[in-house]
Amino acid sequence: MISSLPSNLKEIVTDDTQRALLEDLCSEELGQSHLLDAYCQGDADDDKLRGLCSQLLKLNGGYPGGLRSYIEKAKKLLQDSQDSVNPLDGWSPSIPQGESFELGTVKYDDTEKMGMELLNRVGFVLVAGGLGERLGYNGAKIGLPTESTTGTLYLEYYASYIMAVENRATPRVRLPLAIMVSNDTKEPTLQLLKENKCFGLQRRQIYIVQQGDGVPALIDNEAHFAIDPKDPYKIITKPHGHGDIHSLLYKNKVTKEWQDKLGIKYMVLFQDTNGLAFHTLPLLLGVSQQHGFIMNSLCVPRKAKQAIGGIAKLQNASTGKERTVNVEYNQLEPLLRSTEEFKEGDVNNETTGYSPFPGNINQLVFQLDGYNKVLERTKGVMPDFVNPKYKDATKTVFKKPTRLECMMQEFPTVLSSDESKHVGFTQAESSICFSPVKNAVVDGVALQAKGTPAGTAATGESDQYTAQRIFLRSHGCQVTEADPTSYSGIEVVPGPAIVLDPDFVCCPGDLKTKFPCPEKVMITSRSTLVVKGSGVVIESLNLDGCLVVDAGPGEQITIRDKVVKNDGWIQVPVSDSDTEVIRMRGFIIDRKETEHVEAQNKSGQNDIDDDTSIDENAPYEVEDDSSGVNFGVK
Ligand code: UTP
Repeated sequence: MISSLPSNLKEIVTDDTQRALLEDLCSEELGQSHLLDAYCQGDADDDKLRGLCSQLLKLNGGYPGGLRSYIEKAKKLLQDSQDSVNPLDGWSPSIPQGESFELGTVKYDDTEKMGMELLNRVGFVLVAGGLGERLGYNGAKIGLPTESTTGTLYLEYYASYIMAVENRATPRVRLPLAIMVSNDTKEPTLQLLKENKCFGLQRRQIYIVQQGDGVPALIDNEAHFAIDPKDPYKIITKPHGHGDIHSLLYKNKVTKEWQDKLGIKYMVLFQDTNGLAFHTLPLLLGVSQQHGFIMNSLCVPRKAKQAIGGIAKLQNASTGKERTVNVEYNQLEPLLRSTEEFKEGDVNNETTGYSPFPGNINQLVFQLDGYNKVLERTKGVMPDFVNPKYKDATKTVFKKPTRLECMMQEFPTVLSSDESKHVGFTQAESSICFSPVKNAVVDGVALQAKGTPAGTAATGESDQYTAQRIFLRSHGCQVTEADPTSYSGIEVVPGPAIVLDPDFVCCPGDLKTKFPCPEKVMITSRSTLVVKGSGVVIESLNLDGCLVVDAGPGEQITIRDKVVKNDGWIQVPVSDSDTEVIRMRGFIIDRKETEHVEAQNKSGQNDIDDDTSIDENAPYEVEDDSSGVNFGVK
């Protein structure tokens, strides 16, 4: 039976907009009259019906073009999926434009230097609305520790990097941070910021934008909305994906304000749990500047057929249109094989040993002027896709409800032909720029067994130490690698554990001044080194144990002829724990013995917070904002 609208609907749902929406959805064309089943076939409950209408109105406002557009697009995409339509039909691939870098080369150093000059004109955008189902952590992912040596949380680390960039700029600047939250992550994110006084950032430099309530889950190829089995007056919703970031930045005029009022020139989009996120940021900025890229994707070398998306340049045979865009690995192989040039499919280049289609890791740098022009035209709406899991080959029944999604890396698909020429990539080894924490331990173990990065808390942590070791070694320091070990089945190289605060070193280029005599720096495999403060210089050090160097703002510390030999800090495997973050890592740190170095003469301290000489043209006005934290969510 098809439920029909109650004859007295006008009296039940008095809000005209809500009623009109319900009527439209239940029309034959949109086919959602099953939403009334509970009302028509069970106990009619006017209050609950009004509740359903109010949910529908919210969902309608949360999707560009409203629910009508959502259903129409969903029907078309589901039909295409059932018919196995290849979305890349008519497009032919070629190798994209971009730059690949090797640490320690002149090209790396020069490009990074160019990017360093641009750092004080960058706006930061953290996409943190994901559910994190694979990780299964009970709180907001950005509240997890990046590593357990200092216990620095992800959001704290990102804030400290931003402040480090601000402090080194002359004159000082304030750089904005936008955080995209979802219904699921909003409260824990705001809580984290409030409890930690924004980790030292000014409240006003933080912009919170919120994804809608998600989009309706769909139960079949006719795009019928899924109804909550526990509450027949409620629609099940699912997240619409990180592609929402562009429309939210547009809708809330965030990037327009950054460009017009703050003088921001570039913007970086980054994910919630990548502790290596910013090591290569100057490099990306340098490449964007050199090539005039509107969009620049950070990539890692990708082995042919490796299961991560590859960046490819595509040309459409009939329209002549070109785009440089991420192509999912399962689509890349058939696409390449369908051409004469790549008829062997995705194969490694003989010289580099890697696929010519670099691996996308979804860290994106945009040139703001070009970006904002695109937003004005497109409103930041990304194309949707659908990925239903079917019960069988007839493709008529889903294993579980699906939904439309969109992705932030699809931005090149909305560019004009002219804009499309300004899209490219910057490639660096993943060991220095990418190690996200996405997976639960058991899944990480299975991934490692297949030779794939585990993406767990333990590897996220050890990869941060590894990156610093790689930088120091490439600079000429003697750093001995520890033997691999395993925590809860996850294999890692545990040390030496090196944590260099961004104030001290914010990219490899800083090492020249911070470690002026690298040949005089030796660190053994069981050591821990923590350094904080922009005024620290390490001239000569022989470290076999734990050393913590901590200089406050304006304080100078020079480490010269220093020999440290103590019991140090030891990672101890833990098979179980009441504390979730310990269980996720599988070890704790036993701080046996520490040598601390702090500034001797505090009188020389020059607290930058007393500095009131602010450049009028600086991107953000520096002001006292200690009066509490009160966020307006846009
Ligand atoms: P992930 O691929 O890590 O997905 O997202 P996820 O949703 O967080 O985790 P799973 O798939 O449920 O395990 C990449 C980035 O995009 C953000 C995430 O927070 C992460 O930083 N994201 C994802 C959003 O901001 N919104 C979304 O709707 C989805």
